[in-house]
Amino acid sequence: MLIGKAGEIRSSEITPRDVYFSRRKFLAGGVGLAVGAGALRAAAKLEGLGKSPFSTTEKLTPYDAVTTYNNFYEFGSGKDQPARFAKNFQTVPWTVSVEGHAQKPRTFDLDSILALAPIEERIYRMRCVEGWSMVIPWAGYPLSTLLKQVEPLSKARYVAFQSYYNSKQMPQARFSGIPFPYVEGLRMDEAMHPLTLLCVGLYGERLPNQNGAPVRIVVPWKYGFKSIKSIAKIKLVEKEPPITWNLANPREYGFYSNVNPKVDHPRWSQAKERRIGEFFKRDTLLFNGYGDSVSSLYAGMDLKKYY
Ligand code: MTE
Repeated sequence: MLIGKAGEIRSSEITPRDVYFSRRKFLAGGVGLAVGAGALRAAAKLEGLGKSPFSTTEKLTPYDAVTTYNNFYEFGSGKDQPARFAKNFQTVPWTVSVEGHAQKPRTFDLDSILALAPIEERIYRMRCVEGWSMVIPWAGYPLSTLLKQVEPLSKARYVAFQSYYNSKQMPQARFSGIPFPYVEGLRMDEAMHPLTLLCVGLYGERLPNQNGAPVRIVVPWKYGFKSIKSIAKIKLVEKEPPITWNLANPREYGFYSNVNPKVDHPRWSQAKERRIGEFFKRDTLLFNGYGDSVSSLYAGMDLKKYY
């Protein structure tokens, strides 16, 4: 079993909140003073991360691969382009507005997002629709924690996400062939599921720009494109919201996009995958191996129809 229950975290593994947050403040203050690259890297560290029973124990994909083999079409459609072209992406200041059908809609600045809950490490398998996979130590807390802050109303059946977009900062976007801003969506119960992570870091550091700084979501049982990066707006809505890859190519990409070895992409099989860094392909698992936790969300649904 790779997934346990939330109650299994030992308290000794969690840094006391006050120590954690005062350290975080100190580190955040360091950004302004930092001079060399080493100092900047140190300032990006997330200290005292709690461990999560939701983590897999599989071998991690090396940091270099996680941060140089990316999909982030705002910065170009080549895998190596985001690392090169997102270097100067301005993520300070940053706000995320959480609006729509909510009792208390609110705009959060990044500090309040970081301070909302203890941040833990979540090592997730990630499967890209293109057929490759990675194992990544993300850092964050459940998206539900943020959503509960605004007190969703019963009309809120879906959650619509929108990435930041600025053609001046993202000049490569216009060659990428998809519409911007990048938009994604989840059904409310998917968004509230404890595996759905509001993510602010990886490998114990704040998110590198190419991985969706400063805040993204990570949904490990769905193809990677559902894990929208650099989020600016979250809206609670009544109807299924539009999503970028479905707008770009509705025949090939559906709203649900659950990892499913039995539902092929129209142009290729999804039965196998190549774990980055490995030679032999491995079998793709239904719901990317998270079926024990999430299959009940789709009880009675035809997964071929709702692909
Ligand atoms: N989010 C935005 N805003 N723009 C994108 O192009 N690409 C998606 C997803 N989120 C994308 C995005 C795709 S296709 C994948 S596979 C993952 O981000 C890749 O995340 P990673 O580069 O951190 O591994």
